[in-house]
Amino acid sequence: MFAEPDGLPGTARHDGGMRRLLPDPAESISVEEAYAAPLGRHGDRPWVSLCMIASIDGSTVVDGRSGDLSSATDGAVLARLRAIADVIVVGAGTVRQEGYGRPGKDGQRIGVVTSTGRVDLDSELFTSGAGFLIVPEDSSFEPARPVDVIRAGRSRVDPALAIRRLPDLLGTCAVVQAEGGAGLNGALVDADVLDELNVTTSPATVGGDGRRLTFGAADHLHRFDLAQLAVDDESFLYTRWLRRR
Ligand SMILES: NC(=O)c1ccc[n+]([C@@H]2O[C@H](COP(=O)([O-])OP(=O)(O)OC[C@H]3O[C@@H](n4cnc5c(N)ncnc54)[C@H](OP(=O)(O)O)[C@@H]3O)[C@@H](O)[C@H]2O)c1
Repeated sequence: MFAEPDGLPGTARHDGGMRRLLPDPAESISVEEAYAAPLGRHGDRPWVSLCMIASIDGSTVVDGRSGDLSSATDGAVLARLRAIADVIVVGAGTVRQEGYGRPGKDGQRIGVVTSTGRVDLDSELFTSGAGFLIVPEDSSFEPARPVDVIRAGRSRVDPALAIRRLPDLLGTCAVVQAEGGAGLNGALVDADVLDELNVTTSPATVGGDGRRLTFGAADHLHRFDLAQLAVDDESFLYTRWLRRR
């Protein structure tokens, strides 16, 4: 899901609209209406919302990237969810693979989770000032250029701690948009910090051995309630899931 027009390669901004089946059926609603707000908020820590797309057979990539799974409307969903988030968090693997730019929303920051620091600090993401790093406290990594860094956890980033520390860097930070990939998602579900999942099903099978939505997480059973179900004219399926606590 990387089709936001300003800063990421992909499709142009377009809100093709969708038909909502749940909760309040509507023949035609805009992406803005369907994704009007986060599904909730916490008083004591930022709300964490995940945005991903997967094929019918569960893969999050085609040829190592997500673009071929996506569509203009799916891109509009990503842009809309970014617009209602205070900050974006993404795994270093995705940044290396997709070539992240700065977000379209003025002043929005993107935190890149990494233990190696192996990200291109000369890329637009960082030269624009949008990018910052989230690394383990004991990481020996020293950035080659000035960049904001949040440190949390030992040997690996502790996602729960990192999320609680985001306001120290950003000030107001009520809503975090996590954008994958599967490896980071695995750490997020291990920490049980995902409050909301926004998952688009792309109407295709793709085969291969691409990762599904999470990778590397311990066995668990986290239940979610379906908060919204919508479809569009291209057979894309849009779901919003709320963590049952
Ligand atoms: N379909 C979609 O919606 C979607 C969304 C996002 C990405 N993708 C695709 O997914 C692929 C990337 O996914 P991926 O699973 O390979 O990578 P990823 O989750 O984006 O990144 C994994 C990397 O993030 C860092 N990381 C994750 N958890 C960490 C933790 N707890 N502590 C420290 N570092 C941590 C590590 O970076 P270091 O190696 O630097 O230590 C790790 O190698 C790409 O092909 C991308 O196109 C698809």
